[in-house]
Amino acid sequence: ATVREDYISEETKKLISSLPVNKDSQGNLCKYQGCWYYYNTLQGAINFQNHFQPHDTDVILASSPKSGTTWLKALTVALSERSKHHDDHPLLSKHHDDHPLLSDNPHALVPFLENNLYLKSSTPDLTKYSSSSSPRLFATHMPLLTVKEGLKGSPCKIVFMCRNAKDALISLWYFRCKYQKLEMTRGILESMFESLCSGVSFYGPIWDQVLSYWRGSLEDPSRVLFMKYEEMKEEPYAQLKRLAEFFGCPFTEEEEESGGVEKILELCSLPSLSDLEINKSGKNVNGVDYKFYFRKGEVGDSKNHLTPEMESKIDMIIEEKLKGSGLSF
Ligand code: A3P
Repeated sequence: ATVREDYISEETKKLISSLPVNKDSQGNLCKYQGCWYYYNTLQGAINFQNHFQPHDTDVILASSPKSGTTWLKALTVALSERSKHHDDHPLLSKHHDDHPLLSDNPHALVPFLENNLYLKSSTPDLTKYSSSSSPRLFATHMPLLTVKEGLKGSPCKIVFMCRNAKDALISLWYFRCKYQKLEMTRGILESMFESLCSGVSFYGPIWDQVLSYWRGSLEDPSRVLFMKYEEMKEEPYAQLKRLAEFFGCPFTEEEEESGGVEKILELCSLPSLSDLEINKSGKNVNGVDYKFYFRKGEVGDSKNHLTPEMESKIDMIIEEKLKGSGLSF
């Protein structure tokens, strides 16, 4: 097991002893509220549930791993910055170097709750994420039920980004091999494929996680917005407007006419973000290079790596699990 298990309280150990457990090549997993966690991340989830004090204006950005989290974080930061600099659209005007996205990676600006802030602490310092003029932005990979327990009835807005599971698998394979400095072997890909299909994977089963947000968005569309990576790629302009409307800050006619939507899309595009110095040479607190978060950003890249049999097995499983839900991904 390579995942460290420090910081696990006696109480959490007791909880784990009552949960389904399993393991993969990276560590021990347990299933809590329908989702598989490494033990340290379970502790983060529990810390979050017990100690997070929501503000009604908080925004939670949820996603499956490698489904466009970085992009969603960047777009949301850019949207919330825009309200601060209403008149002069500093986005991307080259003279403005005070835009947070120009000097920080989106993951530093929008931290993960369970996997970052609350991973090793039940009382993280959240003050640096607060300002009087914009909402606090947090991210998560936990399923909706677990998130809602931590929100304790607060009406925070939640956005979920979903992505085709095959592309997310390939994205994760690249990411994992890069940050763990592993050779990209078929063996690693095949074991990740098996985990995905069996549902016993970190934050899996993916279908249950995605369905939790899908159903949440149907039940309360003003509270939960369901987005798809593929739709963002296909019609970014319309999707960004949709995101802004969901946050209650739609683009004004003037903003649209003066190219405000395009400016944000440009600033947050994969080529622009990945070309910034911070993202070329920076690292997160765990030493992961920010550049690993940016790769191709293409729809359908799985075809270049998975066999047709692997592709159809994933498709069949997901289709079966989503039957009757009205969702496909
Ligand atoms: P690929 O590996 O398929 O290229 P996450 O942000 O959830 O970790 O997901 C990472 C995936 O999103 C990677 O996909 C990465 O290239 C892509 N990505 C990162 N930033 C992006 C952006 N600004 N626009 C579009 N895709 C982006």
